[in-house]
Amino acid sequence: MRSLRPLEGQVAIVAGGGSGIGAATTTLLASLGAEVVVFDLNAEATQKIINQAQGEGNKCSFKQVDIRDEDAVVRNTDEVFKQLGRIDICVNAVGVTGPTGVPVHEMGLKAFRDTFDINFFGAIALQAAVSKYMIQAKYGRIVQLSSIAGKEGNPNMGPYSSSKAALIGLVKASGKELATSGVTVNAIAPAVVRTPINDNTDPKVVAYMLSKIPMGRMGETQEVADLISFIVSPECSYITGFVFDLSGGRATY
Ligand SMILES: NC(=O)c1ccc[n+]([C@@H]2O[C@H](COP(=O)([O-])OP(=O)(O)OC[C@H]3O[C@@H](n4cnc5c(N)ncnc54)[C@H](O)[C@@H]3O)[C@@H](O)[C@H]2O)c1
Repeated sequence: MRSLRPLEGQVAIVAGGGSGIGAATTTLLASLGAEVVVFDLNAEATQKIINQAQGEGNKCSFKQVDIRDEDAVVRNTDEVFKQLGRIDICVNAVGVTGPTGVPVHEMGLKAFRDTFDINFFGAIALQAAVSKYMIQAKYGRIVQLSSIAGKEGNPNMGPYSSSKAALIGLVKASGKELATSGVTVNAIAPAVVRTPINDNTDPKVVAYMLSKIPMGRMGETQEVADLISFIVSPECSYITGFVFDLSGGRATY
């Protein structure tokens, strides 16, 4: 019979756990028994998620980390290892849309650099920081939140689409590098999911994204968290460097 708390004894870092997909993932992994440490910029929002998980009797704590700050990412990851003795799981759900509603030729390089700093360079810093502990332990599960925008490209979301495509390259390269190490590296490519990230997205862009989804609806954060809970489980042992689609039928390849 399967345990109700299959992740008991494991330590997970969930970056971006203060909102949306990261928050749903934090709540779910903690309820499955993992000790979850959330890295996020937004202390107030994250504290609510932590309080809720702790109120349900689960282990959950918070470190305020700006994922753009490589030193802070490394320092806080090292602290997690020092305090808890292991890092089994790392889910990176930090992300921003960057500017939307403007075509690439009018966007300017700064918009790309700013978006890449969070969505791509931050992701590399975090992945590198946890990898060394996972390789040492000969076990680990890393999940990066990419997007269908990275597989297909969303018009007028050039910086976002490009940063999410870059993440796919990262996951495919490092998944192969670590293939015999016991550490898996995978990505998820959701279509639109109902979270605050879309609050400031140009409505025309949101309408475009919805029109491409055969199921005709947004995804829910719980649906993403449920997929993540499988990818980070010991049972997901023969899949690495893969991009899991979660797109209501938009992507079927
Ligand atoms: N919601 C969607 O439609 C959708 C679709 C595809 C992919 N994604 C990806 O999923 C991930 C999660 O998205 P979401 O919709 O839950 O977003 P969200 O805005 O609800 O949450 C993002 C979290 O990241 C944190 N964050 C932002 N910048 C940060 C920084 N510099 N350092 C640390 N934390 C920072 C925010 O405080 C927030 O808690 C993102 O990578 C996003 O691109 C989302």
